[in-house]
Amino acid sequence: MLRRATDIVLADGAPIPLQYGATQGYGPLLHSLAEFLSAQDSYTSPVSPQELFLTAGASQAIDHTTTLFTQTGDTVFVEEPTYYLIQSIFEDHGLKVVGVPTDNDGLRMDALEAMLADRSVQAPKMLYIIPTYQNPSGSVLPADRRSKLVELAQQHGFLVLADEVYNLLYYGKPPPPPIASFDTSEDGCIISLSSFSKILGPGLRTGWLQARPPLIQRFATAGLTISGGGLNHFTSTLVHAVLEQGMLEDNIAILRSTYGERVSAMSAAVRKHLGDAVDFTAPGGGYFFWLTFNDSTNTDALLRIAQEHGVNYRPGTAFSAQGAFTNAIRLAFALYEPDMLAEGIRRIAEAHKTSQ
Ligand SMILES: Cc1ncc(COP(=O)(O)O)c(C=O)c1O
Repeated sequence: MLRRATDIVLADGAPIPLQYGATQGYGPLLHSLAEFLSAQDSYTSPVSPQELFLTAGASQAIDHTTTLFTQTGDTVFVEEPTYYLIQSIFEDHGLKVVGVPTDNDGLRMDALEAMLADRSVQAPKMLYIIPTYQNPSGSVLPADRRSKLVELAQQHGFLVLADEVYNLLYYGKPPPPPIASFDTSEDGCIISLSSFSKILGPGLRTGWLQARPPLIQRFATAGLTISGGGLNHFTSTLVHAVLEQGMLEDNIAILRSTYGERVSAMSAAVRKHLGDAVDFTAPGGGYFFWLTFNDSTNTDALLRIAQEHGVNYRPGTAFSAQGAFTNAIRLAFALYEPDMLAEGIRRIAEAHKTSQ
């Protein structure tokens, strides 16, 4: 796909792909992406190019948002558990990271409201959330909680940074739309991030964010963006060609059916080999299974034994600012064929038996 796209982009020898780009991002991609997103089942309202900004991937966008909207010493709320690499990005900026409890439907609004009302907890400047096929838990924040979150952000004056990189990777019914589309305020208080990493290739280092136009303008007029002429101009021209040729739609269809089969294979293997030893919900999308052992298994200790059995996983404590989830493990199913997944689960079950 990318070879074809490169041929198209470089065919006529036009210099545009190798020049500095526009600060908001490559215009034709802003338009083709807006059209593409508007047509997705998981987007219920149209997205306009004025609500999009092209990034160098979700990680860069998180760092850039943190640069523009927070200061050292500020507090950021995160879900408990959350993406295990987020802590270090926020620590780079000297932020205090505070976990908010979750349940099977993601961030608990009652817990968030209680923390916002608690004067002993520093008010957050920003809340980072993965609302759709959460990493690691796989949970999906329902639409009513999304609306409530927007209401609380407006009421308490914090920014919501919604990391929605798995929104298009659903294997059954589509999830609710990105939280940014619930934000009807003039100035905007929600930024929804996404990325071509999960739907085309992480090496491209290209993604986008969706927000109200005034927020988009903060990014488009930032020093980094102006000095560099956009964040990923050349790759954006390639991604635009991929979209124009209908190849992204085709690729996502392949990913959905391939990953859907892997979810089924992993669910069946967990039931067969681990049975009542663990609790889990098969994810409706994304990359991850979150298993919780029903006994007092410490998954940090179990990891060494699992590795002796030739299998790896990420233990629950990696996803907690407080070292919680000592009996949980996150398993990524996206990379392996069904038989490899089944074998991996068999080995984890064997390691668990050995540890008893
Ligand atoms: C929740 C989440 N955010 C961000 C990233 C990284 O995205 P990117 O490659 O676009 O920087 C990942 C990758 O695993 C992720 O799971």
